[in-house]
Amino acid sequence: MPKKKKQEPYPLPNELIPGDWFARLTREEVFNDDKPIEIDLGCGDGSFLIRMAEHYSDRNFLGVERLLGRIRKVSRKLSHAELTNAKALRIDSNYAVNELLPHGFASRIHFLCPDPWPKKKHARRRQMCQLHFLKALHSLLEENGELLFMTDDLPYYEEALEAQRKCDFFEPLLWKEGEFFYPKTDFEEQWVAQGKSMNRLRLRKR
Ligand SMILES: C[S@@+](CC[C@H](N)C(=O)[O-])C[C@H]1O[C@@H](n2cnc3c(N)ncnc32)[C@H](O)[C@@H]1O
Repeated sequence: MPKKKKQEPYPLPNELIPGDWFARLTREEVFNDDKPIEIDLGCGDGSFLIRMAEHYSDRNFLGVERLLGRIRKVSRKLSHAELTNAKALRIDSNYAVNELLPHGFASRIHFLCPDPWPKKKHARRRQMCQLHFLKALHSLLEENGELLFMTDDLPYYEEALEAQRKCDFFEPLLWKEGEFFYPKTDFEEQWVAQGKSMNRLRLRKR
């Protein structure tokens, strides 16, 4: 007889399931303590999120990812590691930042190795180049909060720089490698192994 697959609990302990998907969450619904909150947008398989949560036990981390398989994998890893300061939320990041997440609640937003959308007809999907997306991220950040963006894709990076120059609500900061603990993401590991270099952008909320 085929072995029956063990039913996993739903939600897993580290999954964030909003009570109301159509109302903006409160900070307490995301994390019910006073620790600073950081968001990892498009967290993928979650290695970065987990290492950050392990390293910075005095901070909270929220991974946002649209793929169910990935979000379950992240949640499983978080609960196996018994991390109580990190959660995973399955949702499209556009909806999350524009409609769902609380205003002024994040100390940092990490937007790392997003899909590059290299085809010309898809270029408008590059979120870091869209003023309304940058405005929405700005609203999620607390005073002096930071947005950290990284990509191996030079055209995407250059377009993001141009968009950032046009907006006066972020101030660029230096981001020297090794300046603070910042583990490599899964995709970054892949790109670096292929000899690609990463382009970084660090912005502070004005
Ligand atoms: C290239 S991967 C990078 C993953 C991870 N940040 C890393 O560096 O290893 C991009 C991730 O963003 C997710 N993603 C793309 N568009 C998204 C969206 N609109 N909302 C949420 N997640 C998205 C993808 O499913 C994928 O897991």
